[in-house]
Amino acid sequence: MDRIPIILDCDTGVDDAIAIMLINKIKKFDLKCITTVAGNVEVEKTTRNTLRVLQLIDAGVPVYKGADRPMFRKQITAEEVHGHDGLGGIDLPLSSYDVKNLPAWDAIYQEAVRCDGSLEIITIGPLTNLGMVFTKYCNFKNLIKRIVVMGGSATSGNVTPAAEFNIYADPEAADIVFNSGVPVFMCGLDVTNQAYYTAQELEKLGKIGNQPAKFFRDVLQGVLSYSLQFGCPGVSLHDPMTVLYAADDSIFETHHVWIRVETKGQLTIGKTVTDFSSDKKYPNNAYIVTNLQRDAFQEHVYTLMSEYS
Ligand code: BDR
Ligand code: CA
Repeated sequence: MDRIPIILDCDTGVDDAIAIMLINKIKKFDLKCITTVAGNVEVEKTTRNTLRVLQLIDAGVPVYKGADRPMFRKQITAEEVHGHDGLGGIDLPLSSYDVKNLPAWDAIYQEAVRCDGSLEIITIGPLTNLGMVFTKYCNFKNLIKRIVVMGGSATSGNVTPAAEFNIYADPEAADIVFNSGVPVFMCGLDVTNQAYYTAQELEKLGKIGNQPAKFFRDVLQGVLSYSLQFGCPGVSLHDPMTVLYAADDSIFETHHVWIRVETKGQLTIGKTVTDFSSDKKYPNNAYIVTNLQRDAFQEHVYTLMSEYS
């Protein structure tokens, strides 16, 4: 099987941590490196969390640290969801792995050059690192096959009524990505909120019994309580779902649409304005994922997590 060269760009974060554990077990991916960005917490912490998760699953994937703040704005974080350390207070042992000595945007570009058009990128944090690569290297757009983004929403947001966190955190960078000419596949809240786990479903997953599965169950407990307060049926696995979509889209519904990001509106900054069929009908530049089969999603997650010993 020809494996797909891939980079995961993340702001680790509890659901990012699970996404890392899953991507590590997806055989069709050749995970070239992981790049980190400021988002859920500061970049020092998202990087440290990434290294610790890699240690837990014994995966020596190269890690490159990226942007410590958005391209043009002040940084926002999501500590109320992910905890001060970004991992809900779960104290993972220190990692023996270390971060590489190259900024994330240069590492991404160099890998794109090596892969010569076949590289795919999955982003599960704010899009600052990609905004930087597109801005610094004008031929980058010709070197990337596609970008799968966890972020945005065609309907309502989770930080503001209009905007989802990853896009709201750096709307200018996000708009650079959507407007880049590279096919962008948006896994927004429209679909990721369907990828939820109830308390009972988390317990079942934890009963797999290996350390990564127990960590999966435990690290989500804080976000689960937070989500239940807001009337959600469970905890949404935004980032893990995005990784599984990139690996196999057969249990998802996808539409070809036009998407740009609002960067100026007063109430709507960070909204991913999505045109399915307006009178104007702007030319399609992106794909939006709108539905998934939740049972099949959970089955895929269970199978991958069972592969740890
Ligand atoms: C996204 O924001 C972060 O808090 C999560 O890790 C996910 O990437 C959901 O809005
Ligand atoms: Ca994230």
